[in-house]
Amino acid sequence: MNIQITRLSNTLGAEITGVDLNTYDDATFEEINAAYLEHQVLCIRDQNLDPESLVTFSERFGVVEPHDNLKFTLAQQPKILVLSNDVDEDGNQIGVIDAGDAWHTDHSFKTHPANCTILYSLKNPSQGGVTDFTNMYAAYDALSDDMKARIANLRGRHSISKLKNKRVQISGAREDAVEFYKRQEKAIPDVDHPLVRTHPVTGRKSLYCSPRFTVGIVGLDEDEGDALLDELIAHSIKPEFRYSHHWRDSDVVMWDNRCVNHRATGGYEYPDIRHLYRTTVEGGPTG
Ligand code: OGA
Ligand code: MN
Repeated sequence: MNIQITRLSNTLGAEITGVDLNTYDDATFEEINAAYLEHQVLCIRDQNLDPESLVTFSERFGVVEPHDNLKFTLAQQPKILVLSNDVDEDGNQIGVIDAGDAWHTDHSFKTHPANCTILYSLKNPSQGGVTDFTNMYAAYDALSDDMKARIANLRGRHSISKLKNKRVQISGAREDAVEFYKRQEKAIPDVDHPLVRTHPVTGRKSLYCSPRFTVGIVGLDEDEGDALLDELIAHSIKPEFRYSHHWRDSDVVMWDNRCVNHRATGGYEYPDIRHLYRTTVEGGPTG
């Protein structure tokens, strides 16, 4: 089989076929890595991976992070987090059910946000479960020169806490939500990142903010910061920058959190099962 790389949209994303992630050689890895840096989101089709092989592939991109959510890591391989709406025989959830429903980039609430997230789809619902992506290089490039100059040296404040964020709602499914986010606020203090991020490998600039984690702009009062963030966020999700991934079973989808925002869109209900494995590759400073 020969590797084939095909664009998934005009703006970002590529599909890869003709690769088995259990048995690829170094030259093939270099093609995958080059496609990842160019297209920002990859969908590698028709994979049949055990947990070890998924972790081994993920480790080609860097250190695989331990997960904060220990409850839903895989027993035999704790570097894998389970995303699922399925339940065990006692009716207990077996995975994270509500990962990422507002636009975000993974772990921007940390000083060193994740470089790359990899999801491996084991089972898809008969409808819904789409993941949306938006190209933050293209969003930056399309800003006016005035806006580029205005934000060139500004920094966004990022917080894990939904209590501090007027752009997101707290899910009714979480009974202990206020205590939960208060504990999180204590454990993970807010951090600042540049609004314009330079990718350490490609050297390209991207817009770096999201409604889920960016709660203010350093040095601007609340009203001014809110107005600026609202404008940048609305701009970043214009249709021309976006690609929506409709999953097939056995897809491995990976994205570059340094230049892509994404969100889960839901739209399915138990017993219609969506079940994926996730790994996260550690990143470095944002500048
Ligand atoms: C994530 C995430 C989206 C999805 O795992 O970080 O945002 O569609 N997932 O599951
Ligand atoms: Mn996410």
